[in-house]
Amino acid sequence: MPGPGSYWIGEEEKKEILDVLESGYVFRYGELDDPAYKRKVYTYEKELAAYTGTRYALATTSGSASLIVSLLALGIGPGDEVIVPAYTFVATFSSVIFTGATPILTEIDESLNIDPTDIEKRITSKTKAIIPVHMLGNACDMDAIMAIAKKHNLAVLEDACQAVGGSYKGHALGSIGDMGAYSLNVFKMITAGDGGSVITHNEDLYTRAFALHDQGHTPNRAGVQVGDRSILGMNFRMNELTGAVALAQLRKLDRIVSALREKKKKFKDQIKGIPGVSFRKLNDPTGDCATLCTVLFELADHAKAVAAKLDSSTVDQSGWHVYANMEHVNEYLKNAGLPYGKGAYPQTDDILSRSINLSVGVVDAGLGAGFGIDINSTDEEIKEISERFRQACSMV
Ligand SMILES: Cc1ncc(COP(=O)(O)O)c(C=O)c1O
Repeated sequence: MPGPGSYWIGEEEKKEILDVLESGYVFRYGELDDPAYKRKVYTYEKELAAYTGTRYALATTSGSASLIVSLLALGIGPGDEVIVPAYTFVATFSSVIFTGATPILTEIDESLNIDPTDIEKRITSKTKAIIPVHMLGNACDMDAIMAIAKKHNLAVLEDACQAVGGSYKGHALGSIGDMGAYSLNVFKMITAGDGGSVITHNEDLYTRAFALHDQGHTPNRAGVQVGDRSILGMNFRMNELTGAVALAQLRKLDRIVSALREKKKKFKDQIKGIPGVSFRKLNDPTGDCATLCTVLFELADHAKAVAAKLDSSTVDQSGWHVYANMEHVNEYLKNAGLPYGKGAYPQTDDILSRSINLSVGVVDAGLGAGFGIDINSTDEEIKEISERFRQACSMV
């Protein structure tokens, strides 16, 4: 199973889903005093806003939809440039492209997140926003990023799709910039099969995002709204069945995060100190989602050989999170006259070629994390996997 939330689907999700099915009312809107309307999406939004310490949360159909809606709410469009890391899921690039703007790729550092020192080099008169992506549940260096954004008057949209439940200096990831996007797909901290959310403190951005996700409507309409609609929107609405599962999962999030942190600590304690091997930099270790344990080798050849022994791969060989491995993104960059293909971002290539993702909560070969533990691993299993990792490191 891919993400930690999916391992823990149980009675709570069943109860919420049955509540909706038995009422027969599956649409996200209704009259609050109608007993058949179970308001799962509405409640999920309220609880997510409270959980993240934001004023507003909006449920959507996916993390990708959340990114598109947020970018459009921020006014991003044709002619604009948006700074994104070279290591992220394809949706970060494609959401920018779908708004008509251009993604400008930026190097990552040893946190495997966007390198703030490279951001300023990429800023032009067309730059409108930065999308820091909290990759693998680990916070970006948000102090540095927010300072750059302020200096250059840029919007910040946090792609926190992989980091629901994580924090940076006490603030929920996604709540630090102007807007934050979450995913509820099956690889994520919590899941509803698919789904997503947008969070923000800003009323105007929320109202715009809401309209964009629902054909121009104002927030939380009851029934069919008539009258003027100022924004042309789309339909990225979450339905009550998805909302029911999302709500049950959100209520487990704290337990999921604690369990992962506990397992990751045990795992790290047993694999630390191997010559030539270290852990990736965590910008705020206390806020790490602990979904993955990324190990960095001094030598790429060592990393490659160890990955082969574990029947896994180095991160540069993993799928659609590495810019150079995305044929459609490369084609787009080539046509746009931008650097593309392996070698275009050498610092990123170097770091990813020396890294292996060990699973802790997200077990995903596509992320290069086919080897490791999971949220239900026992102490015995953690010990055994740690031993296998140590042996692989020493045999090569
Ligand atoms: C960093 C990142 N951004 C965006 C997305 C897109 O989320 P979704 O699959 O819910 O559209 C993902 C999902 O894998 C992701 O990992």
